[in-house]
Amino acid sequence: MKITISGFIFIAVFIAIIDLLGLWVWKRELKDLKSKKYNWIAFVLLGVIPLIEILSYLYFSLQIRSATSPNFYIWFMSANITFAIIYFPKILFLFYYFVFLAVSRITETVKNKKYSKEQTTIRYPKISRNKFLSQVGIILATAPIISLVFGMHKGRFNFFTRHQRLNFPNLPSAFDGFKIIHISDIHLGSFASNFHKLEGIVDLINAENADAIFFTGDLVNNFAEETLGWEKVFTQLKAKYGKFSILGNHDYGDYTDWDSPEEKAKNFKGIVDAHQKFGFRLLRDQSVAIDIDGQEIALTGVENWGHDPFPRYGDLQKAMKGTDKFPFKVLLSHDPDHWDAEVTDKTDFDIMLAGHTHGMQFGIDWKGFKWSPAKYKFKRWDGLYQHKNQFMYVNRGLGFLGMPARIGMPPEITILQLGKGPVSTEPM
Ligand SMILES: [Fe+2]
Repeated sequence: MKITISGFIFIAVFIAIIDLLGLWVWKRELKDLKSKKYNWIAFVLLGVIPLIEILSYLYFSLQIRSATSPNFYIWFMSANITFAIIYFPKILFLFYYFVFLAVSRITETVKNKKYSKEQTTIRYPKISRNKFLSQVGIILATAPIISLVFGMHKGRFNFFTRHQRLNFPNLPSAFDGFKIIHISDIHLGSFASNFHKLEGIVDLINAENADAIFFTGDLVNNFAEETLGWEKVFTQLKAKYGKFSILGNHDYGDYTDWDSPEEKAKNFKGIVDAHQKFGFRLLRDQSVAIDIDGQEIALTGVENWGHDPFPRYGDLQKAMKGTDKFPFKVLLSHDPDHWDAEVTDKTDFDIMLAGHTHGMQFGIDWKGFKWSPAKYKFKRWDGLYQHKNQFMYVNRGLGFLGMPARIGMPPEITILQLGKGPVSTEPM
C-alpha cells in the first residue's frame, strides 16, 4: 500500500475543486441567509474539514514508506473511509445540483418564460427551489454514506462461498470429485488482531470436508507482526491432502523502506515462517505431487509475478521443473496477469488459481450482471476464465486493504470440484 507525493497532489487538487464548487453553490443558494450559524457550518464543512483532509494525506504520503508497524496502515485506512464518507456525498450532491441547474436552464429556454427563482420548474410537487434542492440532495447524498457504513460494519465480514465444478478428460480417476477450497488475499493486518472476525471462515471451510486448501497469497499487508496470534484460527482449517500456499505482492515487505537489508530479511522470514505455523506448505517456485492411491497430480506454486508496479520474483520455468510426467497440473500464482503473460498456450497447466484484485472491494454482482471498477484495471478480475482447455479462477479475497469496507463484493471462499470427463464447467 502506498500513497506517493503525486498521489497526494491529485487528492489535494481534487479536494480543493470539490470544496470550491461547494462554496460557490452554498453562496448561490443561501445568499439570503445572514445567520451566523450557517456561516459556521460552511466554515467547518468547506474549510476546516478539507484542510484536515489535505494535511492528513500530506502526512501519510510523507510517512508511509517509513512505516514499520501495521498500525500505520490501520490509520491510513481510517483516513480513507473518513474521506469517502465525507466526499462521496459531496460529489453526488454537486453532480445532482449541476444536472438540476442544466435541466432548469433548458426547461426555461424551451418554455421561454420567466419563472420565479423561488419556484422549481418541476411541476409537482410545487415546493420552493431551496427546499427541493436540499431534500432531494440530502436523500441522494445519504445513499453513499449508508453503503459505506454497511460495507464497513457488515460487508467486509460477510463471507460467502462460491461453488464451481470443472471437468477434465486428463484428470486421474482417483481425483474425480476432488474438492479444493481456494482462499486468497487475507491481509491479516487489516483485521488488527480481531481474531473473532475471521473465525467464521473456519466453520464454513471445514463444513465442506475439502480434500485440499489452496491459499493464493497476500497473507499480510507488509509486516510479519501482523501474523502474530493468528495460528489459533488457521491451524483449525482442515483438508484431507493438505493446505498449500504461495506469496503475494504484499508478502515481501516491499512497501517499506527498511533501515537495513537485515531488517527486511527478518520481516520476510517472519512472514514465510507464519505459513508453516498456520499449517500451510508454502510453495516458492516449486512443485509438489498430490497422491491418491498411487495416482498423482502436480501442484506448482510461484513467487509473485506481476506487471509493474507489482514485483516480479516468480520463475515459472524453475517452479514447474519435474512436472512433465504428471497428467494433470494445477498452478498457484497470485496475480491473474501472469496467466496471459506466461501460462496460456506456453504451458500445459490445466488450471491456475489467483487472487490479487479484491474485486476492488466494490461492485455489483446481481442476476448475471457483474460490474466493478476492477474491470478497468485488471483484464481478468473475478471468477472463472477459459482459454482453449486451460482455466483460471480469480478469487475476490477474504480480507480488505486501502478501504476498510466491501460494498457489493463480499469476501469469498471458493469451492472448486474437479471431475473427470470432457472439458466443461458447471456451477454447483
Ligand atoms: Fe491483496
